[in-house]
Amino acid sequence: MILSLLFLSLNLSSLFRLSASRGSAADRFYRSGDVHVDGIYVRSGRQLLAGENFRMTEEQYIQMLDKLAQGYMSNFDLDKAIKDFHRRCSNISRIYSIGKSVLGVPLWTIEISNMPGKKEAEPAFKFIGNVHGDEPVGRELLLLLANWLCDNYKSDPLATLIVDNVHLHILPSMNPDGFALRRRNNANNIDLNRDFPDQFFPLNDDMDLRQPETKAIMNWVDDIEFTASASLHGGALVANYPWDGTEDKKRKYYGCPDDETYKFLATLYSGSHYNMSKSTEFPQGITNGALWYPIYGGMQDWNYIHHGCFELTLEISDNKWPNASELPTLWEYNRMSMLNLVAGIVKTGIHGRVISSDEGKPLPASITLRGINYTIAASKSLADYHRLVAPGQTYEVIVTMPGYKPKSACVDGDRAVTIDFVLEPAHGNDSQVLEGSGCYIGSKSRFQVMEYMPEPQLQLYVLLIILISAFLCLAMRKKSLRSNHHMVNQRHSPQPKRAAV
Ligand SMILES: *[C@@H]1O[C@H](CO)[C@@H](O)[C@H](O)[C@H]1NC(C)=O
Ligand SMILES: *[C@@H]1O[C@H](CO)[C@@H](O)[C@H](O)[C@H]1NC(C)=O
Ligand SMILES: [Zn+2]
Repeated sequence: MILSLLFLSLNLSSLFRLSASRGSAADRFYRSGDVHVDGIYVRSGRQLLAGENFRMTEEQYIQMLDKLAQGYMSNFDLDKAIKDFHRRCSNISRIYSIGKSVLGVPLWTIEISNMPGKKEAEPAFKFIGNVHGDEPVGRELLLLLANWLCDNYKSDPLATLIVDNVHLHILPSMNPDGFALRRRNNANNIDLNRDFPDQFFPLNDDMDLRQPETKAIMNWVDDIEFTASASLHGGALVANYPWDGTEDKKRKYYGCPDDETYKFLATLYSGSHYNMSKSTEFPQGITNGALWYPIYGGMQDWNYIHHGCFELTLEISDNKWPNASELPTLWEYNRMSMLNLVAGIVKTGIHGRVISSDEGKPLPASITLRGINYTIAASKSLADYHRLVAPGQTYEVIVTMPGYKPKSACVDGDRAVTIDFVLEPAHGNDSQVLEGSGCYIGSKSRFQVMEYMPEPQLQLYVLLIILISAFLCLAMRKKSLRSNHHMVNQRHSPQPKRAAV
């Protein structure tokens, strides 16, 4: 059946059109001699149109495709690999389908966690592979990643950190039909990375006209509150971050409100990669999407705008469809990047929960940082929030919830911080606007607590601190006389502090 489909699709003239692309820069940089399907389509198409004698026989064509796919998992193999993985690692995984492709192939997803399928106050991360059918490296690497995590859980610290503290969702193939057809677009010949709602140019705002694969992703992201994600592409070697498009369609650097955070995340990937950061084309191996070339209707910007999910578009191999013998090497090149990116959402950022002071119920409050025009929401069920930030700065976190008095706190973004907010119900004229003074950047941040104190209270405060310190000094001395050993243990407390505001 797949073969007959293939020939059907071969007759579509649209196949012979060059596609501009995010994730298929190889189209633009096409060099003859590269093995890559789009190029072959284009070449044979041009030749047919030019009326030349050359024509690939069907048999030659099949042979060519077979050769290309050799060593890669077919859709059937992938289905089996996912189920085998789950059977082998059922203690830390579950599998579920987020929908079906145009041709009815289930979009199988793996969730990896020590509590798979349970709601926990933890960040969720998603990896999506094979958005473009002819970029199959990602779907292979994602299965290797899942199996590596399973094999190294409890023995490798990074694997353990991820499984215990993140809900990692892996969709190896978003476009199984495109893969079967060995082409970029899905079975309706639509580029899925142009099918999302766009902030500047609404190409397609009718939900009913969206592709089933796009709808599946949109419903999925509505359901699971992802903190960050990455989609895997091929055709270049670079970590791409928002915005992908510009208002005036001009090619230029166009950063989103979280430009610094995104640069940090993209650099985390490129810097952990074998040689992505050594790129001569892209400084540090990262690029703003619009500076590279603007696209509209992409998945990345939509995730950030509509769901508070920080998504990167990762181009993980210059060659879109390399020989399968290169897959183990590509896995080694990308392994630490993939792990560090996922672990990064636990090792950095501002985390916590928001609860009401009266009933202690979870509040799905809004979280913003002073000076950054972007809001994320605490989760609906547990009211946990996970706000990624660029290290090296102090941030003022502002928490608001209708019917409650807003609160804020200053935190140091250099490492992961956990800070819970307890909000009091607002009565009558309580102001909903928080008049903060902002946080001091850099070394001054240490004094922020004092800066908030009105003058008379400050003196009292200082006196109190002196008294408490003196008391503690005395107490410690007594204790250390009794047991030096005990103090060492205290200093090395393994649990990070959880502050409440
Ligand atoms: C990275 O290494 C691969 C394999 O050695 C090579 O083909 C590629 O050109 C390198 N890329 C960069 C940016 O150094
Ligand atoms: C903040 O972002 C929104 C879009 O999310 C925009 O409409 C608004 O003008 C921005 N505000 C400022 C002060 O830039
Ligand atoms: Zn792509």
